[in-house]
Amino acid sequence: MTLGEGDTPLAPAPWLSKRVGAEVWLKFEGSNPTGSFKDRGMTVAVSAAVAEGAKAVVCASTGNTAASAAAYAAKAGLKGAVIVPEGKIATGKLAQALMHGARVIALRGNFDEALALVRELVERRPIALVNSVNEYRLEGQKTGAFEVCDELGEAPDVLCIPVGNAGNITAWWRGFQEYGVAPRLHGYQAAGAAPLVHGRPVEEPETVASAIRIGNPARWEDAMDAVTASRGAIRAVTDEEILEAYELLGRREGIFCEPASAACVAGLLKYGAEGRVVCVLTGHGLKDPQTALRQAASVIPCEPEIEAVERAVLGE
Ligand code: F0G
Repeated sequence: MTLGEGDTPLAPAPWLSKRVGAEVWLKFEGSNPTGSFKDRGMTVAVSAAVAEGAKAVVCASTGNTAASAAAYAAKAGLKGAVIVPEGKIATGKLAQALMHGARVIALRGNFDEALALVRELVERRPIALVNSVNEYRLEGQKTGAFEVCDELGEAPDVLCIPVGNAGNITAWWRGFQEYGVAPRLHGYQAAGAAPLVHGRPVEEPETVASAIRIGNPARWEDAMDAVTASRGAIRAVTDEEILEAYELLGRREGIFCEPASAACVAGLLKYGAEGRVVCVLTGHGLKDPQTALRQAASVIPCEPEIEAVERAVLGE
């Protein structure tokens, strides 16, 4: 069950490299079919669900897993249901899940509650769970690590990656290990949703980066093991720092990613790194037009006359 996922661009980031004093590359996972890295894992998880005779798939999601699950379920002819925290997912992700015909359930609760409930649901009903607690998801997502090493001809020194439910950092580490390499993993959480940094769950996680608004990651131990084994670190970045990096990526590197993705660049700018550094930009900026419009400059109204157009264009 494929939509043509993977093989995403790895672009050099000259402006960031200069600013950080390292060789920075951006792996743009927003180029996947549904606009996020989730597709790498979803192709495997939904294919496996079909092979196992499942009739329906379900997930809890902050938005991207929902969009991806809905798309692959549609392609597979399976029913899809996604449970998202009410009012806390980006508009584009909601539109995607609905357009692919999934049942979209807005839970009056957060992601952590949604995940606990779907785990209970699949105990009661024969529905395939396609969250990253599903091993097939990680098997697919680890391919990002293969691509980076293939393209650079060797492993990077450091991988910067945003962390929410902690499946992706776990998957990338698995990929690097299978490749026989061990870059340092620098994981970044939003300061208001940083359970792995504090070493305890966060009851009411809050951040502008809605994709990583998670207080009790399912892959907690796996992620901490990966970070320790790689001699890396999990650290926090504030919403302000995330939004600054988000804007810099758009204006200086020509890459529009979503705020959660920018968290890893915010971390790189804040804490630094040495050598060859790859940042994983996990999702496309178009997913969350509201945050972009809040952050960016306003549009310039203009009368249909040449003088007015001239003034507007030249900013005079
Ligand atoms: N970046 C984006 C854009 C995401 O959507 C997510 C997770 C992450 C980073 C963090 O990855 O959870 O594997 O540590 N989104 C999930 C979802 C939780 O439901 O879409 P993680």
